[in-house]
Amino acid sequence: MGTAITVDAKGKFIVPDDPIIPCIAGDGIGPDIWNAGKPVLDCAVAKAYGGRRRIEWLPVRAGEDCWKETGEFVPEATKEAITKYRVAIKGPLSTPVGKGFRSVNVMLRQMYDLYACVRPVSHIPGVPSPVIHPDDVNMVIFRENTEDLYAGVEWDHDTPEAERVIALIKELGKNVRPHSAIGIKPISEFGSKRLVRMAIQYAIDHKLPNVTLVHKGNIMKFTEGAFRQHGYDVAKEEFAAQTVVEAEAASAPGKLVIKDRIADAMFQEALIRPEQYSVLATPNLNGDYISDALAAQVGGLGLAPGVNMSEKLAFFEATHGTAPSLAGKDRANPGSLILSGALMLEHIGWKEAATRIYKAVNTAIARRAVTEDLAAQMTDARTVGCTEFGEIITKLL
Ligand code: NAI
Repeated sequence: MGTAITVDAKGKFIVPDDPIIPCIAGDGIGPDIWNAGKPVLDCAVAKAYGGRRRIEWLPVRAGEDCWKETGEFVPEATKEAITKYRVAIKGPLSTPVGKGFRSVNVMLRQMYDLYACVRPVSHIPGVPSPVIHPDDVNMVIFRENTEDLYAGVEWDHDTPEAERVIALIKELGKNVRPHSAIGIKPISEFGSKRLVRMAIQYAIDHKLPNVTLVHKGNIMKFTEGAFRQHGYDVAKEEFAAQTVVEAEAASAPGKLVIKDRIADAMFQEALIRPEQYSVLATPNLNGDYISDALAAQVGGLGLAPGVNMSEKLAFFEATHGTAPSLAGKDRANPGSLILSGALMLEHIGWKEAATRIYKAVNTAIARRAVTEDLAAQMTDARTVGCTEFGEIITKLL
């Protein structure tokens, strides 16, 4: 039957021993990785708590296959279940081109105001990487999810809307070339502060040494520059006792250091001095780029876990797409979904089960029996299917 996760008066999660967790297998390789990954999560929980705890999965639907059958990308029952149960997990979802919106994923983020995309990035020993010291990367990225150029405030060239905006801009004393397409970049105090607040709280809770605001404020002074300023302000206004700015860090050892970097310099820093960065907080576009770049640095998206979240709801997901060419062939890597599941277990406070999964995935990779995406880049690796990779991890829990 299972029991719903609830929240107390302070907004803290109260997690029963049998929480109901909605799950969306997804499109393309979604069912492959879900069928391989779910037993890993169940077994980790069973072993960590001797059968005292278990997850009551509630399968719900969304995405392209769902749309083909029901005419809806996100049916009402799915919306209700996710709102009610507060924690959910999903495989990748495909969006047919030209259906009037950009992506089902973006739709879900907007629907639930999941304002932070959180991606921990670290290297699993043995995973092939393009850099010499991938093990120096140990960062958690907090990307703002609702604003910036991704907010969808844009108009195609030569539309009446674009022409009106161009005329207004001219009236306000600025110039935009005629026939231009227009995209607007909103960055608000509210949106910036709540994202940086979450990043700082995470760093404090996990005893991490620094939070870096990644922005392009040297050029976009009123948008990216504002993000930087709001970030410093929220640190000062709400976390004065626990934080210090970089310039004063030497005189306040042990405090959480708040620093900032220009986005392009941050890409360089991530390669040259990654060990100096633990939490990154960024506006939407920078965050999109740096998340994938860092994932590539430690061996690619196939193993990268992630979650889109707010205080009210956390939606864990495999960070890659539906890989249509591998769908239904038992060849995909279920690692990203499994590690996202481990992240979910940590989020609900079941750390012992999560630790078992991290250790088992590490051991499985060290033993070099891996899916083809990893095997292709390793020497002496044995290629196993999606299901077998899951089974190997399960045996190691
Ligand atoms: P993709 O991530 O599906 O594929 C990129 C490459 O990585 C392909 O070569 C693919 O075979 C490989 N790959 C991805 N995941 C893998 C895995 N678990 N194991 C082994 N190889 C893997 O990205 P693409 O091709 O740009 O998008 C395909 C579809 O996925 C599109 O419809 C897109 O909208 C959707 N998509 C959904 C996302 C989500 O639900 N979060 C994220 C990105 C794309």
